[in-house]
Amino acid sequence: MKKILSITMVLFLINSIKAQNPLLIPPTLTGPNFNLTIDYDSVQFFPGHFTQTAGVNGPILAPTLIINKGDNININVNNQLADTTTMHWHGVHLPSVMDGGPHTVIPPSTIWSPNWTGMDHASTMWYHPHLHHKTYKHIMMGITGFIINRDAAESTLDIPRTYGIDDIPLALQTKVMTANYQINTDMGERNMDTMFIVNATRNAYVDLPAQIVRLRLLNGSLMRSFNVGLSNGADFWVIASDGGLLSSPVQMNRLLIANAERYEILVDLSSLQGSSVDLMNYGSGIPTGVYGTATIGGMGGASIPDYGNNPLNGTDFKMLTINVVSPTVNAITSIPNTLVTINAYNQNNVDENRTVQMSAVNMGPSGNINGPFQFNGTPFDMNIINEVIPLNNTEIWTLTNQSMIAHPFHIHDVQFNILEIDGSAPPAHMAGWKDVVLVPSNMGSVKFITKFEDYADPIIPFMYHCHIVGHEEDGMMGQFTVEDNNTLIVDHNNINKTLLKTIDIFGRETNANNQLFFYIYDDGTVEKKIILE
Ligand code: C2O
Ligand code: CU
Ligand code: CU
Repeated sequence: MKKILSITMVLFLINSIKAQNPLLIPPTLTGPNFNLTIDYDSVQFFPGHFTQTAGVNGPILAPTLIINKGDNININVNNQLADTTTMHWHGVHLPSVMDGGPHTVIPPSTIWSPNWTGMDHASTMWYHPHLHHKTYKHIMMGITGFIINRDAAESTLDIPRTYGIDDIPLALQTKVMTANYQINTDMGERNMDTMFIVNATRNAYVDLPAQIVRLRLLNGSLMRSFNVGLSNGADFWVIASDGGLLSSPVQMNRLLIANAERYEILVDLSSLQGSSVDLMNYGSGIPTGVYGTATIGGMGGASIPDYGNNPLNGTDFKMLTINVVSPTVNAITSIPNTLVTINAYNQNNVDENRTVQMSAVNMGPSGNINGPFQFNGTPFDMNIINEVIPLNNTEIWTLTNQSMIAHPFHIHDVQFNILEIDGSAPPAHMAGWKDVVLVPSNMGSVKFITKFEDYADPIIPFMYHCHIVGHEEDGMMGQFTVEDNNTLIVDHNNINKTLLKTIDIFGRETNANNQLFFYIYDDGTVEKKIILE
């Protein structure tokens, strides 16, 4: 009874809060050279209370990086945290050594300088830390940035693209807070992510012009899916998914957006000048099995610790109040009929089929919902390369989910085309380029096709993982190398050189007991030894 009363109180408080804080819009940096410094700072989520945060070139979040296709990008990432970290360019197609995965560390007070050539379609991507066992902490502290990729195909379209005016990035996130107004980075309490923020702003409002506006939605939260809609019941048009524009706008009324997914939507504010409309999370419509729904039970009513005490679960709440003001000159006033041509991968030229089974480590009722989870019966191990993929392979991956919670599966290096979700073709807004897909719970399945092109590296792997970061940190991750079979590192039949040492994937000398290690020879050659699971 007491519990029910307090939940009701919290709900009342949430509903009575007025939008009062101007939406923070991260500044942009335009390439090709970028200087990024990660450091601690603080913000006042609650007036008068300083909350310690971390951010890039500012107290929280990070500048939006504008990248043009074909640019030769150089980035300096200066880590001023007390922790080692990494910086991962989520969605970007680049060499694995530049990808900023868990193997490519940036120790405190050092600068990491990746470089690559922009090859991505015009799209909304993002960047965040990815050090294994610190990813949750560093994102939760505030480190999240947008990447806006631009290309020629997008720039000829009649769609909004004036950043901060009619083209607005929106990072949807939640935080777990302590009673002392500090960010709680204890993963054990991850299910009490009760504070919603958009672009690090509580109770946010933004003034937008009475015309078509473009919202770049990122679910940057660590656990939760959102079910986006407009408070006036109006439809909106999805124009892009994770890796690029769709072939044509898809008219929708609700949009489920899982962790790390991005969708760009067009909203028609033309007739609303002088009034307001709210961007809502319709949590009451989130399907069972998806984190954010009211009840995530199953298997005899077992549930996630604290889940029922989190007032955000299953509720409808305001994410952003849009106050509609006068239109700009050269306003976009109509929704285009078509967007871009998508050259999807061809199912007739498949080199390999792989399967990824998602399961709980302990198949008991609570394990089935709260984890830890694993892929193919094996928790993540930094020293095991799970898949070795020949360069230029076209592959179909089939993901099946044996647990009672939906998992947003993400793969680095590539964009994919979804072939099937639970045996059916994907809905139109998911039929373009994707790097995250929510795999439905309880024997749900997803099939996608992709191609591993351009970048081979036998040493540094790319990752694939659940983007519910608590699940990832608990071991729901695997890694793959892309290897070019035409360039053998060493000729095994003709070794007339001296073995100098054996090192592990971190460069530490090892006695070769690891599953993955390297022989370093006196003539400078390296031989890799992998023991596949
Ligand atoms: Cu958003 Cu492996 O990353
Ligand atoms: Cu990624
Ligand atoms: Cu998961």
